[in-house]
Amino acid sequence: MSAETRVVASRSALRAACSAASPGERRAVVMTMGALHEGHARLMREARSRVGPAGHVTVTVFVNPTQFGVDEDLDRYPRTLEADVDLCAREGVDVVFAPGPEVVYRDGDPQVVVDPGPLGTVLEGAIRPGHFRGVLTVVLKLLHLTGADLALFGEKDFQQLVLLRRMVRDLDAPVEVVGVPVVRDADGLALSSRNFYLDAGERARALAIPHALDLGAAAAAEGGSARDVVSAAQAHLDEAGLLVDYVALTDPWLDAPPASGEARLLVAVRLGDLRLIDNVRVDLAERA
Ligand code: PAJ
Repeated sequence: MSAETRVVASRSALRAACSAASPGERRAVVMTMGALHEGHARLMREARSRVGPAGHVTVTVFVNPTQFGVDEDLDRYPRTLEADVDLCAREGVDVVFAPGPEVVYRDGDPQVVVDPGPLGTVLEGAIRPGHFRGVLTVVLKLLHLTGADLALFGEKDFQQLVLLRRMVRDLDAPVEVVGVPVVRDADGLALSSRNFYLDAGERARALAIPHALDLGAAAAAEGGSARDVVSAAQAHLDEAGLLVDYVALTDPWLDAPPASGEARLLVAVRLGDLRLIDNVRVDLAERA
């Protein structure tokens, strides 16, 4: 860990900053779109604990245009670089890489991109066409630019995490992917940069999301079927009057209906102009 956090915006400055890493030590990266909060901080702490004090931690802050659809919130996504750098400094991050789009996409929109395959077309991918192609492409670029051998991502974006693991495996990217559990506010709402835009009334209504997930998990704990779990969650979101994009229960790899044992319950809802997503692990009882 270096004494101070270096903030760089160009490829050459990033290369110079990363070359300060001690040879033979691990290099971790935490990729973000900024507007950093405790969820991101948890990833940084996990990164530091895995690489150790002599290892190197880079945080990237880049609102990636290619993962936003034309009608989405790219222009009004919160940008708070100064506060983000302060948070990274408090967490003992070595380098913050905060490039503009012209640095990351120096030839404009890339012609060669990463195809997320079938998993990129379901759930979030069905509602946000092209989203995961943009995510996987920028993550692969940032892995190359930072030279990290360890990358940490949150379970908050569960489908993103599953797809990134899949990309690393299918394309043999030389990096270890670590998933970090969802960090929540005291009242249960998953932390998200987009929560910034919720007014008090919307925030109170958003609590139906973690409550619905809890009800689903409780239905499973009581021996309920997959259908019972989904109905419990869906009924709660409906009662709260939230517009539901999906409530889905799948196996932990998101590629088949759940059998018994570990499964994942995922929800996406709309609240005003915002979309909020969340998920929880559910353990389904053995069925006769
Ligand atoms: P962003 O939404 O900024 O999230 C950056 C990382 O923080 C992701 O791995 C996300 O899952 C994790 N994260 C966010 N909120 C969390 C929470 N409450 N608990 C745990 N982890 C949380 O995800 C992206 O940016 C982008 O798609 C990115 C991967 C940077 C590519 O552009």
